[in-house]
Amino acid sequence: VEPNSINDEEVELLVNELLERHGYDFSGYARASLKRRINRLMGLDKLKSFQQLRFLLHPGDSYLQRFIEEITVNVTEMFRDPGFYQSLRNDVLPQLATRPFIRIWHAGCSTGEEVYSMAILLHEANLLQRSLLYATDLNPSVLEKVKQGIFPLNSLKQYSENYRLSGGKEDFSKYYSAKYDWAKFDEAIGKRIVVATHNLVIDRSFNEFQLILCRNVLIYFEKDLQDKVIGLFDDSLERLGFLALGAKESLKFSPFTRNYLQLPGKEKIWRKIK
Ligand SMILES: C[S@@+](CC[C@H](N)C(=O)[O-])C[C@H]1O[C@@H](n2cnc3c(N)ncnc32)[C@H](O)[C@@H]1O
Repeated sequence: VEPNSINDEEVELLVNELLERHGYDFSGYARASLKRRINRLMGLDKLKSFQQLRFLLHPGDSYLQRFIEEITVNVTEMFRDPGFYQSLRNDVLPQLATRPFIRIWHAGCSTGEEVYSMAILLHEANLLQRSLLYATDLNPSVLEKVKQGIFPLNSLKQYSENYRLSGGKEDFSKYYSAKYDWAKFDEAIGKRIVVATHNLVIDRSFNEFQLILCRNVLIYFEKDLQDKVIGLFDDSLERLGFLALGAKESLKFSPFTRNYLQLPGKEKIWRKIK
């Protein structure tokens, strides 16, 4: 055990305090990853003890916001898992194209790389102007980045490679302008994106969608919370709508599985059939 790392009881105590004193409900989150993230943060910020961490989390202290941001993992990329985007292009968009209006929900969108990827697919399929992309996350500071549509330039090489692997035929650089170390995506690509905070643990359904994407979020939740959130998606999805999860996530063991049919292939995309 590292001198400044916290134990299982301390994780439990913190989860209780976060709920009772600060109104943040992490009780359904997988403890192993919470513990890892807390220990990582304590290392980053050179905290000496659990007591010091608790003291910093005093109500009204700005450290609370930093803590929440750091224990939720925000890693994302454009066209992450290119095969997934290929399946969106080939299997999902042609179905959505039959609809007069398309509403898509990106739940747990982090800084928005996934949302801009989707907007580019819709643009290329000539569907963007009749689509709305709702981008939500628990964490307000990542949502500021979604609004700006600005991503680090040094990631763009990999993103354009992902784009190409997903079946993209255009010169990817036509979608953004580079300035200093940043790439800013065109207004035309971002204009159908609507940004709002939404906490999957406590907030309700707010619309009916033809496609919901929630990738690499449920892996941080325990089974009961996963089932509850899948129930929320089920309530929010139109019949014959699509639900897309992350590579390590599945609908298979949820109570809703019989209402869905997984698309052929290995991608984590299901169609609601009932
Ligand atoms: C690893 S990122 C996934 C980003 C993107 N979906 C992707 O796959 O690249 C997980 C995101 O889920 C968000 N998140 C965690 N708990 C949440 C909750 N209860 N409600 C909404 N978003 C949450 C985090 O803030 C983080 O931005």
